[in-house]
Amino acid sequence: MNARKSLKVNGKGHLEIGGADCAELAKQFGTPLYVLDEAHIRAMMRIYRDTLEREYGNGIVLYASKAFSCTAIYAIAKQENIGVDVVSGGELFTAMKAGFPAERIFMHGNNKLPNEIAYALDCKVGTIVVDAYSEADLIDDEAQKRGMIQDVLLRINPGVEAHTHAYIQTAKTDSKFGFSISDGTAEKMTEYLLSKKNLRMRGYHCHIGSQIFEKQSFVLAVEKSLKFISEMKDSLEFEADTLNLGGGFGIWYNDEDVKTDLDGYADSLRTLLDAVKTGCAHYGLQLPRIALEPGRSIVGEAGITLYTVGAIKNIPNVKKYIAVDGGMFDNPRYCLYQAKYTAVLANRANETPCEYVSVAGKCCESGDLIGVNMNLPEARTGDVLAVLSTGAYNYSMASNYNRNLIPPVVLVKNGKAEYIVRPQTYEDLTRNDIIPEYLK
Ligand code: LLP
Repeated sequence: MNARKSLKVNGKGHLEIGGADCAELAKQFGTPLYVLDEAHIRAMMRIYRDTLEREYGNGIVLYASKAFSCTAIYAIAKQENIGVDVVSGGELFTAMKAGFPAERIFMHGNNKLPNEIAYALDCKVGTIVVDAYSEADLIDDEAQKRGMIQDVLLRINPGVEAHTHAYIQTAKTDSKFGFSISDGTAEKMTEYLLSKKNLRMRGYHCHIGSQIFEKQSFVLAVEKSLKFISEMKDSLEFEADTLNLGGGFGIWYNDEDVKTDLDGYADSLRTLLDAVKTGCAHYGLQLPRIALEPGRSIVGEAGITLYTVGAIKNIPNVKKYIAVDGGMFDNPRYCLYQAKYTAVLANRANETPCEYVSVAGKCCESGDLIGVNMNLPEARTGDVLAVLSTGAYNYSMASNYNRNLIPPVVLVKNGKAEYIVRPQTYEDLTRNDIIPEYLK
């Protein structure tokens, strides 16, 4: 099961998350249902925050809220005294609605829209990470209109190829993100940002990808970034005072992944911070403020999705399909990345798995699968199926495909669950629909 303690099998043979019986949760709230364990989320936020504080001092942990965004998660991040990263006007609005302190918000995006930039300045977000010339102009103009100076970082591409799925790699040379160090564009852009009167250029941001286990890739990105900082100090007399190292630490989805406990995440972070200290000493740089942006590792293993098993189809000598009441509309990650998950029959969790099945969704699409070769006891219609490690990039990538309803989210604390995202209704689906007069 997952690396931390939030999941266990109780005396009734039912799966429990954060002390709540999953079979009971399915009865109480219905399925499909996203369930998040609050203690796990807080423990992850704290391990990053405390390790950074203890081992380095000058830094900020930003929860990368693209992994899972709703008002309650910003409320938790606020209580834990960390920052957040947002990547759209919608995420920013959600954070503001939750009363999140704007100065602890970093705004990202490779193509921030003019209205998103204006809104970010109205909110007075702490830092904007610039990823285009046009953006630099827009932020400068909007800041000037408001008589403000906006703190910015430049997103650089250190050219590190991390070992992860190609779609979630972001810092190889061919990427829509960032300004490349190697071809000189990052230097030119640094100069440009320094020339802007209403921007305060603070430093750099890099993010090499997601679901990464090798520390070496992160260390390499640190080394390349510090070398670049030192070059900018020499050539432009600009010494960055902030270095944002992005997110990317991997989590456990299935037994091909490394199980990492809290100490393991602390260790990985320590390795990065050591690389920063060594690099700065080597180049004679002052230790910059370090920002980190973990998303998946904060919420991923904290979450599970509960489904009810419906149709079961056995194709002799081919395979067995177990269909559930969810699918690619609540978890598109198999379709997008062939992501592999672990599933458990939540109401018979102490039974030994005895067959490999494909878990299918209910969308009109053959590729609508939650997983293939999932090892389960013989499932029966009506069983509750729990898919583990779905806290990150599931709810946040959900859709209303086939006009299915996006499942609600409950947060479990001390064995009790409460909605943090209410169930959608069919009325919600047609709320914005309009039939033009001539069609009536
Ligand atoms: N910072 C930046 C600039 C990012 O682009 C990302 C993720 C993060 C931080 C957080 O990375 P994390 O700690 O979560 O690995 N939808 C994909 C993941 C896309 C990640 C995009 N950027 C998936 O489902 O695997």
